[in-house]
Amino acid sequence: MELETLKIAKADGIATVTLNRPNKRNCMSPQLHQEMTEVLAKLRYDDEVRVVIITGAGDNFCAGMDLKEFFIALKDKPAEYERVWRQAAEWRGRTLRYYPKATIAMINGYCFGGAFSIVEGCDLAIAAEDATFGLSEINFKLFPGGTVSKSLANLLRPRDALWYGMTGRPFDGKTAAQIGLINLAVPRAELLETTMQVARELASKDPHAMKATKDGYRMSLEMSWDAACSYSFAKEQELVVAQGDAWRKEGIGDFLQGKYRPGLESHGAGAA
Ligand code: COA
Repeated sequence: MELETLKIAKADGIATVTLNRPNKRNCMSPQLHQEMTEVLAKLRYDDEVRVVIITGAGDNFCAGMDLKEFFIALKDKPAEYERVWRQAAEWRGRTLRYYPKATIAMINGYCFGGAFSIVEGCDLAIAAEDATFGLSEINFKLFPGGTVSKSLANLLRPRDALWYGMTGRPFDGKTAAQIGLINLAVPRAELLETTMQVARELASKDPHAMKATKDGYRMSLEMSWDAACSYSFAKEQELVVAQGDAWRKEGIGDFLQGKYRPGLESHGAGAA
């Protein structure tokens, strides 16, 4: 696949997708949305890939939507504007949210506006302590549009969402961790290794159990208690078929034979 706006690297079950427009602070152009849509579709069915990391080239993560190539260039092309709008919403929203593999956003610098929806769409997020986040839309007379308002509603406490949305004040990675926008913030020099450690940990888990964990959580958010129970019951049966009953045979079986303690370690990581 010829890519101009992204870079892909694969190793040990982990695919790293790098937004690759460093001179434009990795902001998202229509071409980037198209390429990301294709890349995520390809990685979805790549059996070698268990975890996808999304990050930015150079010293930054993503400066949000490309304000020039999207909002200005497509202003008088309503059909094309709507097509790109939907594509941009879809990959950061539904595609990432229900992605069958684990996803991690690695935030290495500026993260503005539309980039919040990448962070929210990924399952986990790790940032450099000195990364800069901001809901800058209010500063240029817009509001957190597209999928961003929904991302804020999904992730943040009301006071934080409105505070940062209404003031447009930038905040750092440590603050992003405190308010629950990301999982953790680490010194910049440790960002890559910390993220890779987490990715390796996720890649070592049973992929079907990983998918069920994600589906169970994401789907339950949308369901009544009864529907969620029914879904979980059916999901157990799906897991049995998908992994040949490995969770009973090996997962529980090896524990009952005293081979490992799942409360303290993952199957296959220790003595089992
Ligand atoms: N859309 C379009 N172009 C952008 C962009 C964006 N979101 N963010 C950065 N760029 C471009 C700049 O126009 C500039 O292009 P040029 O070199 O052709 O003039 C280049 O990227 C570098 O930006 P610059 O402002 O010179 O770099 P900086 O390091 O001083 O500041 C930012 C970086 C991200 C703080 C600043 O560019 C900015 O505020 N961008 C807008 C961020 C934003 O509001 N995003 C939300 C969109 S939903």
